Amino acid sequence: MGERQIGIHEGDNAIKLMDLLGPQDRLFVLTGAGISAESGLATYRGSGGLWNGFRVEEVATPEAWAADPVLVWRFYSMRREDAQTAEPNPAHFALAAAEKVLGDRMYICTQNVDDLHKRAGSKHVHHMHGMLFESRCVQCGTPFADDGQYMTAETLPVCASCAEPVRPHIVWFGEVPLDLDAIYAELQRATVLLVVGTSGSVYPAAGFVNIANQLGISTVYVGPEAPANAGSFDAMLLGTAVEVLPGLLAF
Ligand code: APR
Repeated sequence: MGERQIGIHEGDNAIKLMDLLGPQDRLFVLTGAGISAESGLATYRGSGGLWNGFRVEEVATPEAWAADPVLVWRFYSMRREDAQTAEPNPAHFALAAAEKVLGDRMYICTQNVDDLHKRAGSKHVHHMHGMLFESRCVQCGTPFADDGQYMTAETLPVCASCAEPVRPHIVWFGEVPLDLDAIYAELQRATVLLVVGTSGSVYPAAGFVNIANQLGISTVYVGPEAPANAGSFDAMLLGTAVEVLPGLLAF
């Protein structure tokens, strides 16, 4: 149904989405680790999906935090270091430029914890899995800006007001993504769902395409390989984010 609405066809990599959007259209963009891959940030499940011999699922969980907070902080400290040296790529910039045209008719929901969308200039960005450069006290819970790197037990941060441990402001496996109500409200009023660079294996984000299908929203996937939920999309544009998005979003 979506394919009829916006006229995007399987493998039609020359299509210009912005030309197809009318004044009533609203674009919901879901991004995953793939959009930052060409900025030099490793995806979660690429390259063997290992970090120092650990699967991400072994360090990004409440259980890992309870068992070994130093390991968890070392993992996120290294990701902070990587993200600080990374720069937004043309795919991030293409989304930011599209938002300048569409204004609040465009909404980016990212599973990424890096800040590359914002550094590219995007304004409406929802970080459903938290933010790398924020931390929060396990007791007080309020997130605060933090780019510190904590590599040893002696240097792990504690809360200035209650002295409880401070953890990364990241949604771990088994935890609930941030502000799902706001995400679903945006999805419900969207007319096009554009998904970029995510393996389609982590829920609830992997299920957005199914919700979109129920609502009659057009759905397009961009990435170099088919995601796990590929069969649910109206159109698959196979290519990297940098290969596809600047042309797709050109206006
Ligand atoms: N351009 C676009 N997509 C790419 C590129 C690229 N240059 N390179 C790789 N990809 C795609 C891969 O084909 C893969 O489908 O990016 C996807 C990366 O998948 P994952 O590593 O599983 O990342 P993601 O889907 O974002 O992970 C979801 O899992 O670990 C948790 O919370 C973490 O937010 C993360 C969530």
